[in-house]
Amino acid sequence: MDKYIIDGGEKLYGKIRVHSAKNTVLPLLAASVLTDEPVVLRRVPPIVDVENMLRILTEVGCVIKRQKDTAVIDSSNAVSHEIPARLTKELRSSVFMLGSVLTRFHRAKISYPGGCDIGLRPIDLHLAGLKRLGVSIVEKDGYIHCDTDGLKGAEVLLDFPSVGATENIMLAAIKAEGVTVIRNAAKEPEIIDLQRFLNAMGAKVHGAGGGTIVIEGVTRLRGVDYTPIGDRIEAGTYMIATASCGGELEVEGVSAENIAALLHKLRENGCKIYTKNDKIILRSEGRLKSVDLVETMPFPGFPTDMQAQYAALCCTAKGSTLLVENLFETRYRYAAELKRMGADITVRDRAALIRGVENLHGASVTAGDLRGGAALVIAALKAEGKSSVLNLSHIDRGYADFEGKLRGLGAKIKRVRI
Ligand code: UD1
Repeated sequence: MDKYIIDGGEKLYGKIRVHSAKNTVLPLLAASVLTDEPVVLRRVPPIVDVENMLRILTEVGCVIKRQKDTAVIDSSNAVSHEIPARLTKELRSSVFMLGSVLTRFHRAKISYPGGCDIGLRPIDLHLAGLKRLGVSIVEKDGYIHCDTDGLKGAEVLLDFPSVGATENIMLAAIKAEGVTVIRNAAKEPEIIDLQRFLNAMGAKVHGAGGGTIVIEGVTRLRGVDYTPIGDRIEAGTYMIATASCGGELEVEGVSAENIAALLHKLRENGCKIYTKNDKIILRSEGRLKSVDLVETMPFPGFPTDMQAQYAALCCTAKGSTLLVENLFETRYRYAAELKRMGADITVRDRAALIRGVENLHGASVTAGDLRGGAALVIAALKAEGKSSVLNLSHIDRGYADFEGKLRGLGAKIKRVRI
């Protein structure tokens, strides 16, 4: 078990190049079993969620080769339609394997997926969509057993634009007989990237990024060498840290369009932001001012995955901010930890009222989920004095070399064994 020791109060200066987006790499890894030919993915982040997904692929019979941040997945000998429970427990994205394993083997067996404990997170929309494509589903002994005589294209109307359900249905429809239309599909940039990836393999998908995705089933997919889009949440996390602590940051590898909602708020907070191609430069001087209301929404709204880190920034901005979390039910567990550092936060159901204080003070705090953990680190970087952040396993799930990158920007942060 490790913890961070952080000496707060340093401004942050420097450059960051982000990895490929975790939330693209995970469905792309699942999609690699759709072909017998090798799939090459580049700039893959060395994070625990990716390692767990690679382990799942190995368990179904894929051969994985790693060289630096490139992963080569050879699924030619994939044999198993079963995803072991001990791995699905670790990772919600294991559920993507349903769509691709069903395409490959016409059956799949998986236990209920785990992941960050931030709300109910059911998979009913995934399962309803798969049923529409001709899959029969039996839930027994904690396992979901899926079977089909052949996937068939269909109209799928999602009750909510779920990212995961949209991706899973795309994976199941890719070789289905006929045409599948997903309405009220999620519009996140990661969905567009999945479409680009699948089309590079020979699929026929269009419409991603709009609310309707059309998939014409094909009979064969080929291998591909692909660099997924940069991680907008990783980029946003370092930007919020710099905005809160003060300083200047250049982020490379992410499109400003993909984090426009965050940039908009940071500008309102008083940051200067310049964008050029895939570079974003952020400058923050003096005390930030609060933005009255920030509500999380599906893309292009303010991302739920930035809510906790942004809350850390609000803690020391001048004035009050009302945060409203519209995606997940219990995404404020970090608030109690921020209060230990002197934050003034009142949480009621999906709303959190944050009254900015002059500064936070160091404390010993514990990460309860991935983005909440990042929020505690941001708060500790800003706080006066020394902090410890415990339970780094959550942070390790989604940030590659978090402490190294922050140290590169001038932060006083070290990782120690406890
Ligand atoms: C993905 C992201 C996650 C992000 C979230 C919302 C990945 C690997 N993870 O998660 O980082 O926070 O999008 O942007 O890409 N829902 C249902 N039934 C379902 C599916 C979802 O009710 O079958 C609900 C969820 O409980 C939640 C909302 O829909 O309230 C959004 O979830 P969804 O978009 O599916 O998120 P994930 O795909 O799990």
